[in-house]
Amino acid sequence: MNIGLIGSGGREHTLCRKIYESKLSSNIYCFPGNAGTSKIAKNIEIDILNFKKLLKLIKFYKIKLVIVGPEEPLVKGLVNFLKRNNIKVFGPNKFAARLEGSKAFMKKLCQENNIPTAKFKICSNQKDVNKFLQKSKMPIVVKADGLAAGKGVTICKTKKKVIEISNQIFKGKFISSKKLVLEEFLEGEEASYFLIVDKNNFKFFGTAQDHKRVGQNDRGPNTGGMGAYSPAPIINKIIENKIINKIVKPTLFALKKRNNPYTGFLYVGLMIKNNEPYLIEYNVRMGDPECQVILPRLKTDIIKIILSSIKNNLKNIRIKWKKEKCMTIVLCSKGYPGRYKKGIEIKNLNKIKFDKNIFIFHAGTKFKNFKFFSNGGRVLNISSLGWNFLTIRKKIVSSINKLNWKAGFFRKDIGWRIIGH
Ligand code: AMP
Ligand code: GLY
Repeated sequence: MNIGLIGSGGREHTLCRKIYESKLSSNIYCFPGNAGTSKIAKNIEIDILNFKKLLKLIKFYKIKLVIVGPEEPLVKGLVNFLKRNNIKVFGPNKFAARLEGSKAFMKKLCQENNIPTAKFKICSNQKDVNKFLQKSKMPIVVKADGLAAGKGVTICKTKKKVIEISNQIFKGKFISSKKLVLEEFLEGEEASYFLIVDKNNFKFFGTAQDHKRVGQNDRGPNTGGMGAYSPAPIINKIIENKIINKIVKPTLFALKKRNNPYTGFLYVGLMIKNNEPYLIEYNVRMGDPECQVILPRLKTDIIKIILSSIKNNLKNIRIKWKKEKCMTIVLCSKGYPGRYKKGIEIKNLNKIKFDKNIFIFHAGTKFKNFKFFSNGGRVLNISSLGWNFLTIRKKIVSSINKLNWKAGFFRKDIGWRIIGH
């Protein structure tokens, strides 16, 4: 069957590779894709928020299944729109996507269902902020309510900073919402738990830990993610049961009660403290770069899994995983997450031969005149499977060194919590 894939990041190239390997796929169309996807699928340049144009192209190319990678089209209702037009599509509807699209919605849902999460207050004005400040200890986390492309969260060490950041949000710094959430700061270790969900059931879809800060030793500003590894050793069976019973089940039940059952990938962002999981955030999609370490471990045909979710038949599918571990390191443009140059050629990408266990997933890349160019902040994800994280990391680092892209940088300490620096 012809398949449409929405998005253009490392996550989408990884999904595209798995879709390409599926026995059930024929032509793949990426809207808009990147240089990596262009080698195995047809890229179609388009604004993915132009739903009407998307629909036309989906019909034109006789696409029978659409898979949505990023959050923005989901939060803006692409699934509802395509379903209304009788297109088979995988992902949550607009209401359920509010789990990611509105932090206020997500926190209220936690409160109403006793889901463990940081203490919080939803604020619409400075008076609300002052009330929370009076009774809380520093640091405090300020979160813009709506989508903010990863820039909506600030950890504040002083009250002055809380007031300054809050004011910016109330004044409309983020177009998506003028509300914000103030939260207590949670200590602990972060980990992510993934699920695939249909109207009646859900199945485990991997665990991972990522590194959000740009610099070595987790220093510097936040990014979309500089690297990740799977599985997350911190999530043992006992913690997993708590995640399912205290967080996942009450959430899915609450959405069902509101007649909007969740469907799609669900990313549960957690802080683990003293063997107790606390929900930090939900994302209504796969993570990026977490997808780049989870999918290489998947053995079962991804399209078979997605179709069984669409048919609400996940209960009857067995999803098999490789026992090997996986890590990815992100090669970024110098300057990211601040200003950086685009359009710089990555000369060696075609020339050097990588180990067969190295997967290069493209993110911000473009293919022009038979050459690869950078086209974003996060440029390439270099992933590898193996039995030992330290060996995997060494192999990835040596591959990046071989690539020798002078305009890029990367973190050499991915996985430091488990394997040191
Ligand atoms: P979010 O966009 O909600 O994932 O937040 C971005 C990052 O900020 C998370 O991955 C955490 O590292 C950090 N963070 C968010 N909320 C909290 C919290 N309540 N306590 C500690 N760290 C947090
Ligand atoms: N790596 C974090 C995210 O996908 O949101």
